[in-house]
Amino acid sequence: MRVLSGIQPTGQAHIGNYFGAIKSWVAQQELQDSYFTVVDLHAITIEHDPKELYLGTLELFATLLAAGLDQDKCTIFVQSHVAAHANLAWLMECTVSMGELNRMTQFKDKGRGSESVRAGLFTYPALMAADVLLYQADKVPVGDDQKQHLELTRDLAMRFNRLYGEVFTVPEPSIPTIGARIMDLSNPTKKMSKSSSSPAGIIYLLEPADQIKKKISKAVTDTDNCVEYDPQNRSGISNLLEIFGVATGKDPRSIAQSYSSYGALKNDLTEVLVTNLAPIRDRLNNLLDDKAELARLMRMGAEKAEITANETLRRAQDAVGFVPRS
Ligand code: TYM
Repeated sequence: MRVLSGIQPTGQAHIGNYFGAIKSWVAQQELQDSYFTVVDLHAITIEHDPKELYLGTLELFATLLAAGLDQDKCTIFVQSHVAAHANLAWLMECTVSMGELNRMTQFKDKGRGSESVRAGLFTYPALMAADVLLYQADKVPVGDDQKQHLELTRDLAMRFNRLYGEVFTVPEPSIPTIGARIMDLSNPTKKMSKSSSSPAGIIYLLEPADQIKKKISKAVTDTDNCVEYDPQNRSGISNLLEIFGVATGKDPRSIAQSYSSYGALKNDLTEVLVTNLAPIRDRLNNLLDDKAELARLMRMGAEKAEITANETLRRAQDAVGFVPRS
């Protein structure tokens, strides 16, 4: 079984990224042949600052290691280090239709119909399909917001195979049962998001303990003071229970039964988050101190990833009729 997933180095990683995706990646690496990538090509589809992207890519790569990914157990790499991604993306752009790209809700949300929006934001799903298909991934562990992109990836794999012959494995998304959609703490009907939430609504993976405490204590709930898991009608308290559940491996409903006030739940949730996140922050600081080791690990990941990616790219290029360079 082959696994691939990716994360954008745009803004800082948050607990939605961690509990929705990264935590399950760490578990997967023990069981499957896994590839995880920091998708810097995707990060330039919206306005960005080059220095921030540079530092953000280093920090995110190191964060994945600090969270428990191990280059000896899986392959962790930076997307732009493997040229096959941009190459296969072109083949995918020539497989996908304008209509399909137009229907992507993420483009509608981020692009908002603006004329100046980058063309790369529109074709983003073709690049994401290339990321997955290059590695012949069977499973793609992601949060709920990536479901539509993965459905398109499946359609493109099937279409390409039908048009040109069997080249790609058709992947399945793997979405956690709890933690797949962590909501914004100040606006719990919206997902916690690097690009659209305000800092008060986000707990960053590297957030210091006193900030975690402050943000959890200010998290929006209702005035009922009745601890109950009901995401439809009681989004604020249910989001806190969900975060508690995914951080401890317990069912949010049974956690609800142990509390009779929001204050007590918030105090214990703060403790749980601090205990989960503090070791990641400590390890990250050590990793960022040794830039030469980080560079070595990045090179190692790119070299491993390239072997699989180049082989698939060549097969896809042969299938569409490109003459190989001699
Ligand atoms: P990105 O960088 O926005 O997010 C990385 C992962 O975190 C998950 N996630 C969440 N999970 C739960 N609650 C949230 N509030 C939350 N916010 C984010 C995302 O679902 C994702 O799994 N397009 C992708 C990156 C990508 C990719 C790929 C993923 C590029 N190529 C190939 C899988 C396979 C993205 O923007 O993720």
